[in-house]
Amino acid sequence: MSGQTLHQSVLLNEVVEALGPEDRGCYLDATFGNGGYSRAILDAANCRLLAIDRDPDAIARGGSLLAKYDGRFHLAEGCFSDMTALLQAHIEDFDGLDGAAFDLGVCSTQLDQPERGFSFRANGPLDMRMSKSGQSAADVVMHMDEADLARIFWEYGEEKASRRIAKAICRVRAETPIASTGQLAAIIYDVMPAKRPGQIDPATRSFQALRIFINRELDELRAGLEAVERLLRPGGILAVVSFHSLEDRIVKRFLATRSQHAARPSRHRPEVDSPAPSFELLSRKAILPVEEERLQNSRARSAKLRVARRTDAPLGNIAGIDGSDLGWPGHPNSMKEQNLCG
Ligand SMILES: C[S@@+](CC[C@H](N)C(=O)[O-])C[C@H]1O[C@@H](n2cnc3c(N)ncnc32)[C@H](O)[C@@H]1O
Repeated sequence: MSGQTLHQSVLLNEVVEALGPEDRGCYLDATFGNGGYSRAILDAANCRLLAIDRDPDAIARGGSLLAKYDGRFHLAEGCFSDMTALLQAHIEDFDGLDGAAFDLGVCSTQLDQPERGFSFRANGPLDMRMSKSGQSAADVVMHMDEADLARIFWEYGEEKASRRIAKAICRVRAETPIASTGQLAAIIYDVMPAKRPGQIDPATRSFQALRIFINRELDELRAGLEAVERLLRPGGILAVVSFHSLEDRIVKRFLATRSQHAARPSRHRPEVDSPAPSFELLSRKAILPVEEERLQNSRARSAKLRVARRTDAPLGNIAGIDGSDLGWPGHPNSMKEQNLCG
């Protein structure tokens, strides 16, 4: 573990201030990482907290906090889509959350370890699995058909050269196995114009797309939001930090739907009861890191925090965030046909 970059928590003060931890409260850190949020919440009040992470390395790092917080801190390996079962299993007499924080995506610690295969900046196995289990990025790059590969780069990376990149991958893999981040980056650089000053690296979008696909990140997010809506007590706070527009769009739409009465039905249709809003937005616009944080931590530059308070409305039959704009029916790896966390 030596030589690892320590992850610098993004928007830490803003998240803790929004949650306003209280003594005897019960909180969830849905994405433990290096534990920056967990420690700050536990230090702010004499509360209980469950931290979840799907990465076994993050769970191993968190072990040292168990003794420090003496029965108030609980740690669970798993996906936050399974938070209900994890909270019930780890928190005695669990009966609701006073606050929950999500800090989405990967940690610097994961990105900076070439052997985890998340980054094009250093050569390593083409892996990208946060949980270290299941289908790796190399499996997808080697076996998925060209059209589906192109769709991954387009849907999850908004990569305009998606078709060219997929075609090049299929051409290379017919000759030689693609097993490393360096090989994949070289294929992308071959078909993309060279990076110009001020532009992002040409491999950024494709690597992001593969990572999102491998870890089913967007479906995890939808499921996590729906689960936390059921678990927060009235007055409980939800704080979500996202890092790219696909994530932020899901959070924004979820909170927009849940904080408004459903649209009035047409006067030609029978009256239906509109469900009461289950969340109240605490800030209409996303909260961004202050300039000092953005200058000091490059990961903070794209971060957005959205905060909402759970109302006392019971959960009715509220329209879901189906994300149909992001899924593709009949996809061989359609997440909707599988357990999310496997
Ligand atoms: C940005 S880091 C969190 C950093 C943390 N807030 C801190 O201050 O150290 C995100 C972490 O969430 C984990 N993660 C991402 N998606 C997850 C999911 N669906 N379920 C559980 N953990 C997840 C990743 O493995 C990673 O360790």
